[in-house]
Amino acid sequence: MLKVLGFGLGATPKQIPLPPPKPVTGVNIEDAVLARRSIREYIDKPLTMNQLSLLLWSAQGITELRHGLRAAPSAGATYPIELYVVVGEGGVEGLGKGVYRYVPQNHSLILHKPGDVREELAEAALKQPWVKEAPVTLVFCAIFARTTVRYGRRGFRYVFMDVGHAAQNVYLMATALGLGTVGVGAFNDEEVTAVLGLKGEEVPTYLMPVGVPSSNAPKSSTFEELEKYFRGRHG
Ligand SMILES: Cc1cc2nc3c(=O)[nH]c(=O)nc-3n(C[C@H](O)[C@H](O)[C@H](O)COP(=O)(O)O)c2cc1C
Repeated sequence: MLKVLGFGLGATPKQIPLPPPKPVTGVNIEDAVLARRSIREYIDKPLTMNQLSLLLWSAQGITELRHGLRAAPSAGATYPIELYVVVGEGGVEGLGKGVYRYVPQNHSLILHKPGDVREELAEAALKQPWVKEAPVTLVFCAIFARTTVRYGRRGFRYVFMDVGHAAQNVYLMATALGLGTVGVGAFNDEEVTAVLGLKGEEVPTYLMPVGVPSSNAPKSSTFEELEKYFRGRHG
């Protein structure tokens, strides 16, 4: 099974195991879909390791052991996404600042680059303040060749669909955990690549700052309000 998941028993860099995913929120899917908003203001509170674990698992974690299938669908199960986590100073309880790479195969993190890079990352993201202020930012990178080797040019669009699926899982998981996030597509590719110290084949596609929402974060309407609204618009 380890081999199927692409993870042998050979030498591996130092890994930080994440707590195993467990159902904890009790939030149903209807409520999570309703409540999801893009949240750009956070209070000064760290995430817990359990929260980080569930966010990463929802994005790219293993959900089926036989073939190593993951939480988000992927064209031909080619899995082009490499997921990085930018952790600020005190951003996650029990985890030092730095850039980490998520390893889906054993649900762990590997320290990729030490230090708090949030300010530089925000600069690279056209100075969007929420990138600097969030305790944590997930960075979805893509290795296009994993998908285009099978699907040719069409593979490019599939990769972005993969990223969208994974990011939506993070939006919903963050909502269910009482956290807030926003998908950030506006950034300078070369600058983000340099800030994260990415290898040439890894292309940053989407950033998701995550934090505990501030009290003036935008709120969705209620189901009751929607029902009244829709009824009023039926003939
Ligand atoms: C592909 C994409 C790129 C986005 N890029 C940014 C961005 O760079 N900065 C930002 O603040 N919000 C960004 N957003 C969030 C949208 O502004 C947000 O989804 C929209 O205003 C609707 O609000 P809602 O997400 O609360 O429904 C992006 C959303 C998507 C789907």
